[in-house]
Amino acid sequence: MSNVNEKRLAGEAAIRHVEDGAIVGVGTGSTVAFFIEALADLKDRIQGAVSSSDQSTAQLSKLGIPVLDLNAAGPLTLYVDGADECDPHKRLIKGGGAALTREKIVAAASAKFVCIIDSSKQVDLLGKFPLPIEVIPMARSLIGREIVKLDGHPVWRDGVVTDNGNWIIDVHGWQITDPVALENQLNQLPGIVTVGLFARRPADVVLVGDREI
Ligand code: 5RP
Repeated sequence: MSNVNEKRLAGEAAIRHVEDGAIVGVGTGSTVAFFIEALADLKDRIQGAVSSSDQSTAQLSKLGIPVLDLNAAGPLTLYVDGADECDPHKRLIKGGGAALTREKIVAAASAKFVCIIDSSKQVDLLGKFPLPIEVIPMARSLIGREIVKLDGHPVWRDGVVTDNGNWIIDVHGWQITDPVALENQLNQLPGIVTVGLFARRPADVVLVGDREI
């Protein structure tokens, strides 16, 4: 079960990675919401943030933190985001909040990825949390059939439309022993926009509550 106090501690602890004058990459979710709250106290010391979702943009803007376009911001020094699962190699499943595509883009643009989680997210093997995959709507059935061939059980997140206008398939039943290989394999399928595996670019630092692992 998730632990709200650990999420708050992790969000606050990530502040120590924020450098003066930085443009901070900001993820999405309930743990990140605590980070954004803490970031607001430093807003006069940073240039602003690059956001990974409409949800985070709304919170950042409400708290008076400038939201900048990634193309204008250039390479970032820091990205802070939560996760749905994290293995001992800091490889992640993300996308529970359907923001995986922009999250992966901002993570890729950042020199350091600090992942903030509560202890319920720590696993030895990724895959108990259903793997989110963002797909182009017309490819939903095609991708579903491909996943079945790979012994996965695809479930369409009916009613959810991503910030990019796409749909989410959650894959149940995979025990992901080689996350990099699976991420590479799924990335080849036409119609998949983003796989919620962050294994090719894992986190650099993981904060479980205020404890760094
Ligand atoms: C959103 C995500 C989130 O980081 C993930 O779902 C964790 O969320 P929370 O901090 O609310 O537990 O990947 O797409």
